Amino acid sequence: MIPFKINEQEVEAQEGWTILETAKQYGIHIPTLCYHESVAPSGACRLCVVEIREGDWSKIVISCMYPVQSGLTVLTDSERVRNVRRWILEMLLAECPASKELQKLATEYGVKATRFTIKNPEEECILCGLCVRVCREVVGVSAITTIGRGVHKKIGTPYGKPSESCVACGSCVSVCPTGAMRTRLDSIRGLGQAKTGHSHQA
Ligand code: SF4
Ligand code: FES
Repeated sequence: MIPFKINEQEVEAQEGWTILETAKQYGIHIPTLCYHESVAPSGACRLCVVEIREGDWSKIVISCMYPVQSGLTVLTDSERVRNVRRWILEMLLAECPASKELQKLATEYGVKATRFTIKNPEEECILCGLCVRVCREVVGVSAITTIGRGVHKKIGTPYGKPSESCVACGSCVSVCPTGAMRTRLDSIRGLGQAKTGHSHQA
């Protein structure tokens, strides 16, 4: 076992565990959006940041991907962590301003508006890719995928056609942290139109 500290609490992790996995074992809350225990972490949303301290020195790391080491001191809710999370939430709000879930989370951190440019006021998807990973790694059908790069990146079906492999299990809807998949499943199955997000339609 690997001993270290989270918020003054002595904890122990198994070899290979991340900070987030260890925190979960001890009931210590770290906010996440793109993490799900059933699939490999991707580090897409960065909301799970924590601070690692050593004397006067400290750094911010992504807890869902940072492997624990003996003797670490981790702070999950320090002023620096909360500042970074507020900044990340502002960036995410600019990406998907229409997500009620994200607005609620931002409000909890005192973020009521974003200073970043909003490209599409109707967008709900943060492009975290969790729906894609769950569809591929858990359901095993790869009905949806990430298409394009940069500003053209979106979540959709191969060639934008209704998916024949979709089994309508709803896993993508249930894991989606922003609610974006709720309005897109029918179009993936070819049962209706996707919500008209300009670059992220399914
Ligand atoms: S639809 Fe939801 S789960 Fe999929 S990439 Fe967008 S925010 Fe993430
Ligand atoms: S939960 Fe860790 S980066 Fe998204």
